[in-house]
Order: sequence, then C-alpha cells, then structure tokens
Amino acid sequence: LKTPTGCPVSQQAAQFDPFGDGYQQDPAEYLRWARAQEPVFYSPRLGYWVVTRYDDVKAVFRDHETFNATVALEKITPTVPEADAVLKSYDYAMKRTLVNEEEPAHMARRRVLIEPFTPEALKEHEPMVRRVTRQYVDRFIDDGHADLVEQMLWEAPLTVGLHFLGVDEEDMEQLRRYSIAHTVNTWGRPSPEEQIAVAHAVGNFWQLSGRIVDKMRATPDGPGWMRYTIRMQKEHPDVVTDSYLHSMMMAVIVAAHETTSHGIANALKLLLSNRAVWQELCDDPSLIPGAVEECLRHNGSVAAWRRLSTRDAVVGGVPIPAGSRLLIVMASANRDERHFADPDALDIRRDNASDQLTFGYGSHQCMGKNLARMELQIFLEEFTKRLPHMQLAPQRFEYLPNTSFRGPKHLRVEWNPALNPERANP
Ligand code: HEM
Repeated sequence: LKTPTGCPVSQQAAQFDPFGDGYQQDPAEYLRWARAQEPVFYSPRLGYWVVTRYDDVKAVFRDHETFNATVALEKITPTVPEADAVLKSYDYAMKRTLVNEEEPAHMARRRVLIEPFTPEALKEHEPMVRRVTRQYVDRFIDDGHADLVEQMLWEAPLTVGLHFLGVDEEDMEQLRRYSIAHTVNTWGRPSPEEQIAVAHAVGNFWQLSGRIVDKMRATPDGPGWMRYTIRMQKEHPDVVTDSYLHSMMMAVIVAAHETTSHGIANALKLLLSNRAVWQELCDDPSLIPGAVEECLRHNGSVAAWRRLSTRDAVVGGVPIPAGSRLLIVMASANRDERHFADPDALDIRRDNASDQLTFGYGSHQCMGKNLARMELQIFLEEFTKRLPHMQLAPQRFEYLPNTSFRGPKHLRVEWNPALNPERANP
C-alpha cells in the first residue's frame, strides 16, 4: 500500500479504523502510537490524512485558506444510489451552513449572527437551563438507579437547545430520532440497508426543519436564535440566505444537542471513575468550571473534525497534496504530552486545560461553546449537590461507530435514595 504521494503505508496506518471499538472506546489511547511514531499518516481505508499531535491539529485549524472547512458535513461513507434517490424524493437540499461555509461568506454570516451567543446574552438562559436540569433529576431521584443517557442526558440538552433556538417542544421526540440518523449519515459507516432507513429519517428531518422555519417566519418577533436569524435576514438578505436558513435549522439542532449530551455523559463517566475528584467537586462546587474544561480536554465529545487542502501543503513535516482530505483528531491532540503535562491524568486544576481543541479553533471555532460550558456546569452543580453519593454501576460502555460525535450509549448509575441529602435537609 502506498500514500497518494508514493510513500509506503506503515502497518499501523493501514490498520487504522475509526469505526472499530478501539477508537470508539478511547481515541487518544488508540492513537498513542501515531503521536509517538507517525503523527501525520495516510489511512488507505478512509482515504484521509490523519493528524494527531496538538501543534499540527491547531496549525490546520488556524490556516483556513490552505485547509478549508467545506467538507465538514460531507458523508464520510459514500452512499448507494438507492439512498440518494430516497433523499431526492424528500427534496433534500442540505447545503452550506456556517461550519462548512467558505470565506468570505462564512465570516460575514458569523458576525451578523453571533450576538445571542455572547456570555452576556446567554445569562438570560441560565434559569431555563437550571429548571430543565432539575426537572429531569426530579423524575428519578427517588429511584436509586438510572440510565442517565436514556433518562436525561439525551433529552435535557435537546430541550435546552430547542429553547435557545426558539423551537416548540412538540416536535422533540421526532427530532431526537432524526438527529441520530443525521450523525450516522454524516460520520458513520451504515450498511446499504441502513443507508435507506437513514435516508428516510434524514429526508423527514429536512422537511420538518422547513416547516419549523415557516412557522417562525410567521412569528419573527418571538424568542430564540433562529428567529433572530430571520430578523437579520431582512437586514442582510445576501448574507443570510433562504438556503442557509433551512440547512442551518437542521444542522444546528444536531450541533446544539448531541455534542452537549455526549459531553456531559463523558464528563460524568470520567468524574465518577475518579472518585476522589468527584468528592472534591461535591465538597467545593467552585472547582466545577475547571473540572468542565478538564473533562472537555480529557474526554471531549467531538473526537475529530475534517478539512480539505486547497493547495499543496506540509503538516508536521509531511507533504500533503492539494485536494486531500484531513481527519484532525482533537481527542488525540488534547492528550499530547508535548502540550499538556501528564496528559492522561485528570487534573481539574490544570492551568492550560482551556487550550483544549474540542470546540475547534480559529475562524470556525464553536459558536455555542459558552452555552455548552454553562450546561455542563449546571448539570455538574445539580448532580454533585443532589446525588453526591451516586456511583457508576458495573457496565461495558458502547458507542455509535462514527469518527466524530463520541459519547456512551448508556450511563448506568446507582445510589441509596435513603441517603439523598434532600431527605435529611429538605
Ligand atoms: C462549530 C464542537 C456545542 C453551535 C463547532 C465545531 C466543533 C464544535 C468542533 C467546529 C469548529 C471548527 O471548525 O473549528 C462542539 C462541542 C459542543 C458544542 C464539543 C458541546 C460540548 C454547541 C452548541 C451550539 C453549537 C450548544 C449551539 C447552540 C455551533 C455552531 C458552529 C459550531 C453554530 C459553527 C461555527 C462556525 O463555523 O463559524 N462546534 N459544539 N455548538 N458549533 Fe459547536
């Protein structure tokens, strides 16, 4: 096997499989060999150049002219014609949003739409996030056990996301199914049969997104970021286009919710496996913001992202031809000892944890990062206060095979409800 530049492919590079259990369980551990020996390698199985070290991942993010983001939402597994036909039957036309838009269109749009994401604007949502969090915990606090993903972590961030966007909750259950389909469709390896089922779900998701936009156009002065977008369209019709609005309605539901659901599940799993650290947070909640940042670094929910090289380039000393696709693995970069001391340790007082690349970096860096941080903090505040004695139940963690969105399918915990602090001190 040879790379597109004619070099031989090493055995480990040939075997790299981001859909296998090794990568799913712990992408940073799985790529330890690469960070040490072959930090930028070509994966023939994927047809991508894989970038694993901190400085290289950051350099790719930083240079958006050489490495553009237009492939960010491309299907990583080519689809069969039958699945394409199904999508066509729904008039599916997902195009550019923000995350996969070129300059200069991207920056113009980002500037017009960013105000509701500023920390000041987000303060308004804090009581809503806390209310939603408490409502979900109320449902199972007396049970003594829960599958937190099933019973809370999937839906609560979706509810928060829908409030933030201004979408009605009546469409929630459907949106939940559709957004899983979108993840498989974009970053997964579905079989031909699965592709057809997924195409129907994605087609329905697309149509529902269109109906939601239409409903919002009828009430443009109502709440939420999507209505803000509709109002901005009146002022900047060339920057905020109809195609953008429809595509973004669908994409942002996924962006706002799966990333955060997985992020909280990963954080709780990590903290509960490090009992002494969990206990510290229960005793001193002022440590929570630092813990959130460290969890995003150590066990983030977006493991890898994609770029396309627009010209011949060199990454970490390796020549990469124009037109190449790159898989930049933030989960690996975040555990690079060249940037983070003792990178595998969970250290909630680490002074450079916020250098983590889980939100990306540079011109496309996650717009929702402060909303996500707020959600993670409030979730941890409520859990450490109300269920400090919660423990992980014995279990093996499973993941949806895909390159990018990473979090356990289930997170089973247990506790003795007789010891709930609220019973002693109602
Ligand atoms: C972009 C991760 C939560 C909205 C991104 C990118 C990543 C990411 C990796 C691409 C960055 C790049 O190309 O440099 C995450 C993670 C989250 C999270 C890990 C939670 C833990 C959210 C939330 C929202 C959101 C809650 C919205 C409510 C966006 C938007 C973009 C984006 C609009 C596109 C920005 C642009 O291209 O200019 N996010 N995200 N994200 N995210 Fe997030």
